Amino acid sequence: MRILVIGGTGHIGTYLVPRLVEAGHGVIVLTRGQHEPYRRHAAWEHVQRINVDRAAEESAGTFGRRVLDLRPDVVIDAIAFRPLSVQRMVEALRGSVLQYVFVGTIWVHGYSTVVPTSEEQPRRPFGEYGIQKAAAESYLLEQARRNGFPATIVHPGHIVGPGWEPINPAGHKDPKVFEVLACGEELALPNLGLETLHHVHADDVAQVIVNSMTHWSAAVGQSFHAVSPGALTLCGYAEAVAGWFGRPANLRFLPFEEWKGTVSDENAAMTEDHIAHSPCCSIVKAQRLLDYQPRYTSLQAVYESVSWLIDHGVIDAPPLR
Ligand SMILES: NC(=O)c1ccc[n+]([C@@H]2O[C@H](COP(=O)([O-])OP(=O)(O)OC[C@H]3O[C@@H](n4cnc5c(N)ncnc54)[C@H](OP(=O)(O)O)[C@@H]3O)[C@@H](O)[C@H]2O)c1
Repeated sequence: MRILVIGGTGHIGTYLVPRLVEAGHGVIVLTRGQHEPYRRHAAWEHVQRINVDRAAEESAGTFGRRVLDLRPDVVIDAIAFRPLSVQRMVEALRGSVLQYVFVGTIWVHGYSTVVPTSEEQPRRPFGEYGIQKAAAESYLLEQARRNGFPATIVHPGHIVGPGWEPINPAGHKDPKVFEVLACGEELALPNLGLETLHHVHADDVAQVIVNSMTHWSAAVGQSFHAVSPGALTLCGYAEAVAGWFGRPANLRFLPFEEWKGTVSDENAAMTEDHIAHSPCCSIVKAQRLLDYQPRYTSLQAVYESVSWLIDHGVIDAPPLR
């Protein structure tokens, strides 16, 4: 097929695009041309890359036409954040594509009630990002139900892979937290350290997207989580990482209001967002309907990423494997 990936050189695209090329598809990647994929791969030589600023073309009202003119069979939209962006895609592509895959986020759930959270639980998002993504999802599901628009929604967790910092056991992105654990120094965690994170390797997100195409009839009109087999508690995550470095974790627990004074405002805000959501999502639906078989647990994905950060001098710690 002829597959258009909008925003295809980021975390997801780095793994998704080679998978699509290797499956024999013709792949077009649309980005601004500012970033290269995180990983080199020969498949990129077979990809048509087009430089476009989606935001600018959306403002000019030309983006839908641009996408349609590329005559894609499938559109994978990795960078739609507002319902209006998705509406424009539906208006442009209705009747012309076999499938439109929208990349959402597990933030559409807000906080959890029954865990692991299933895709079918009512949405109670909070925060602009989750609210906008949930509205886009709701619009697409309605379009699929009423008008047969072939939409599939894929909700990733915290995406991990070699080349960038994973969300760390303190719930933010500062790689120093891994150094602290590697050296056996004290690490402060908020509350009891029992709030959760739900990572996923970028290649497993790519797997869910590709499987949603190969399992088309089960996937259209449906939402799927793209997460690892299990979420991590902050405390368990810290202990596992310290153990990986051959150290016991030296943890201290502080009420969140006190803890946030120990980190930068930016890190405190990121941790607050993560622990307020404390995601723990189910993969049962993707396993059952898409034959999703995650290649990585959360910790395996994190260890691969941290090994890369050590090898590239971002984290100063012994390269244990
Ligand atoms: N990262 C996470 O942990 C995470 C978690 C849950 C959900 N998600 C969802 O995943 C999606 C993002 O995927 P990702 O993490 O793979 O993205 P990413 O790493 O941020 O990469 C973004 C891609 O989009 C391109 N891009 C950015 N702005 C653009 C514009 N205005 N016009 C055209 N291209 C543009 C970038 O290339 P250029 O810069 O060269 O244009 C790049 O290819 C989003 O929908 C996000 O909500 C992400």
